[in-house]
Amino acid sequence: MAMRHDIQRDTWKQQVGSAAATRVENGMIVGLGTGSTAHQFIYALGRRIQDGLRIAGAVASSQDSKDLAISVGISVSDLDTYTELDLYVDGADEVDPQLRLIKGAGGALLREKIVASATRHFIVIADSSKQVARLGTGFPVPVEVVPFGAALVRKRLEALGAAIQIRMLGDTVFVTENSNIIFDCTFAGGIAHPEELDAHLHNIVGVVETGLFLNFAQEAIIAGPDGVKTLSR
Ligand code: A5P
Repeated sequence: MAMRHDIQRDTWKQQVGSAAATRVENGMIVGLGTGSTAHQFIYALGRRIQDGLRIAGAVASSQDSKDLAISVGISVSDLDTYTELDLYVDGADEVDPQLRLIKGAGGALLREKIVASATRHFIVIADSSKQVARLGTGFPVPVEVVPFGAALVRKRLEALGAAIQIRMLGDTVFVTENSNIIFDCTFAGGIAHPEELDAHLHNIVGVVETGLFLNFAQEAIIAGPDGVKTLSR
C-alpha cells in the first residue's frame, strides 16, 4: 500500500515538474530548486531544451541540482553571473493557503532563499500531501546556524518555544553547503504567527536563515487525487 502511495506521489511530482516547465519561455533566466520535486522540473526543462527551447541561463540552488541540470543538458551559471532571474521553480515541505512555505528538509534553504529573493516570479511545485492549514504541523522549521556559539542560539530558540533536533547525516552532524549546521525546530500545535516567529528567529545573532519562506511564492502548482491545480497569491 505504502509503495502504491509512493508511486502515486512520484507521478504527482512528475506532473507538477512538467507543468512548471511549460512556463519557461525562450530567453528566460531560470532558477532551479532542490529536492525530488524540483528535480522533476529539471528533467522536464532538460527535455524542453532538447526539443529546441533556448533559455538565456540557469542558476541552481544546490550542487545536487546543478549536477543534475548539467547532466540533462542545461548550462548552469552562478548567481554572480545573473543577479536577476525571470522564474524560480522549487518544491516545499509545507504550503499553506497563503502560499507561505516551510522549506529546507534537503538542507539547501539558504541558497534556495537567496535564489528565490533574486527572482521576479517564484512557482512552488508540490504534491497535495504538502498542503497544510497551518505551517509547522507536519514538518519542523529548519534554522541554519553558524557553528560558533551554537549552544547559545539553541538556548534562545528554546526560549521561543522550539523543541530542537540538530540535523544529522548518519552519525555525524549535517553541514550545509555554506559550512553551517541546522537546528530543526518544532513548535507545539504548529506556528500561529509565522511572520512574527520569523522576525524573532532573525533577531537571534548566529541565525543565518530560516526555512520559513513567507512572502516568496507567487504561485503554486499542486498535484493530487483531484488532478493538477494552480493557485495564486
Ligand atoms: C530542499 O532544501 C528543500 O527545500 C526541498 O525543496 C523540500 O524539502 C522539498 O523536497 P521534496 O520535493 O523532495 O519533497
